[in-house]
This record gives sequence, structure tokens and C-alpha cells, in this order.
Amino acid sequence: MEKELESLSINFDKEYEGCSGLKELEALRIKYIGKKGYLSSFYEKFGKLPKDERPKIGQILNKVKNKIETQLSEKVETLSGGASSEIVDFTMPGFRIPAGKYHLITQTIDRVKDIFRGLNFDIVEGPEIETDYYNFEALNFPKHHPARDMQDTFHVDSNHVLRTHTSPVQIRTMEKIKPPLNIISIGKCYRNDPLDASHLPVFQQVEGLMVDSDINFGDLKGVLKIFFSEFFQKETNIRLNPSFFPFTEPSAEVSVTCPICTNGCPLCKKSGWIEIFGAGMVDPNVFKNVNYDAEKWTGFAFGGGIERLALIKHSINDIRFLYENDIRFLNQF
Ligand code: PHE
Repeated sequence: MEKELESLSINFDKEYEGCSGLKELEALRIKYIGKKGYLSSFYEKFGKLPKDERPKIGQILNKVKNKIETQLSEKVETLSGGASSEIVDFTMPGFRIPAGKYHLITQTIDRVKDIFRGLNFDIVEGPEIETDYYNFEALNFPKHHPARDMQDTFHVDSNHVLRTHTSPVQIRTMEKIKPPLNIISIGKCYRNDPLDASHLPVFQQVEGLMVDSDINFGDLKGVLKIFFSEFFQKETNIRLNPSFFPFTEPSAEVSVTCPICTNGCPLCKKSGWIEIFGAGMVDPNVFKNVNYDAEKWTGFAFGGGIERLALIKHSINDIRFLYENDIRFLNQF
């Protein structure tokens, strides 16, 4: 019986080697250790053995049975998806990772910077949490002046606000650099404006400042005309209407000829002109605050919303689209 068990074990090994499917393995299991399998006939014979032979043969029987069971379950595991059995087909096409792109606002900021760099302006930055002094006082907004009303904002503490415009960067730069200077500053600004189709409580502003001797309105108009013509990729005219800002005198609202139509469209409200920037000649009080000689130096400043530039350029009729992050919208740019 010992020999017979040995050859049973060898036969099993041979068949086992050739097995490459779960169905074949199951058939092998039934054949060897199933209820009516080879091994059960040995158990029957085992019952009839003389008592003194039983311990030895019993041990061999169990050993063979255990070995068969272990080997079978090992192969079942491998075939039914164990890590080592994973078949990798290197010729399969890979997963496509969609390529990202710059957000329209980033694209607009980059374009604005590019154009002004070409006009010899330097790009400067300033903090978004500003002191009351830089955001208002130094820009000629005295405390309690009604001009502060239009720029209500979040007060971080009694002396700090979330900046309402990029104009404080003018002050910070002039404190550091002596004229002549040409600078552009772009960044986030905050105002207590309710969210609607044309207002955001957080928006991006671009600010420009040029200081030199003999700077006049003509220079301002020339720089803006070149900028807008480049930005809209179209010959654009400028119109300046009288306005008020505490830090410029005289001040103007800048309008551009509608980049879309020639004879009136919804974007320009059929007027052919679109109001786009604020601007003016730097107020002598501002120069005094930064210790510039107001008799010697003259300058202009302008500022406006990056979002508004993007809306006009791409005929988008609701500013909120820019920040909803709907990929169907963003992919168009
Ligand atoms: N800072 C002004 C605003 O936010 C815009 C402006 C900038 C006006 C520079 C004139 C000169 O309303």
C-alpha cells in the first residue's frame, strides 16, 4: 500500500503540472480526493489493515492527502487572480490623461503682462492684506471720506483690510524707487459687492503707473490705445470721460471702441463704446505722500478688471462663468 500511495502521489504531480485551468483543477480534485476518488478507496483498504500497520500507513495517507489539497488550493488561488498570475499586455493602448490648460483668467493675465512688458513696464506685486494707510490714506482717501463707500471691504483688524484695488502697489513702489518708472501690478482685490452677472466680491485688477517729467494725458491715451489694440487684436480707439478718483486729478473713465461690432451690439449696448478702465494724472497729494517733488514729476495711472477684459474679448455675458469651473465652458478658451 505504501508503494501504491507513492505512485498515486507521483501520478498526481504529473497531472497537476499539466493543469492550466480552474475546470481541469476541479476535475483533478474530484478524481483524487473527491468522495469517490482514488484516495477514498485507500481509506477503505486502510480500515481493513492489521492494527500494527495502521499508524505508519495512516501517516502516509494523511501526508498525501494534505499535499494534494495544498497544491490544489495554491493553483486555484493563482489561476483565479492572485497578484502573481496577472497577465500584462504591453501592447494594449494606455489610459489617456486629459491634458490641462491655463484658465482663461491666467491666460488673460499673461497676455496683459506680455503687452506691457513690450512697452517697457516692469511687473511689481503687493500684499492682498493691506494697511488702511496704503489702501486708502496714502492714495488720498481721508478717513470717513465718502469715496471709501464705493470700496467697502473686509476689515481684518482696525488697521488692515483686504485690498480693494491694486493702487496701493503704486505707493509701495514709489516709496522704494525714484522716478522715472513704469510699472504694472496685477492681483486679487476684494470688495463688498454682491455677486451678479458683472460683479464679483473677489476679482483681479490690473494697475499701471508711469512717472517721469512732462507726462501728460496724451501719453496715457497713447499707451492705452496701443495696449487695447494689441489685447483685442484690432485697431481700437480710446475715449476719456471726466470722472473722479481721489488719487488722480484730473480723472477719467476710459472707454474703448467695441471690439465686436461696428454698428451697435448688445455688448456695447448699441453705443459702439465700452467703459473699461479708470485712469487719470497722479494727484500731487499722492506724490507728496511718497516724497516725490510734485513740481518736478508728473505721471499717469490706470486700472481695471482682468475679468472684464476677458468678458469683452470673448463676448461672455456673465462674469460668474469664469469661476464656476465648468469644463465645458473653460475648454472653449
Ligand atoms: N483703483 C481704481 C479702482 O479700483 C482704478 C484706478 C486705477 C483709477 C488707477 C485711476 C487710476 O476703482
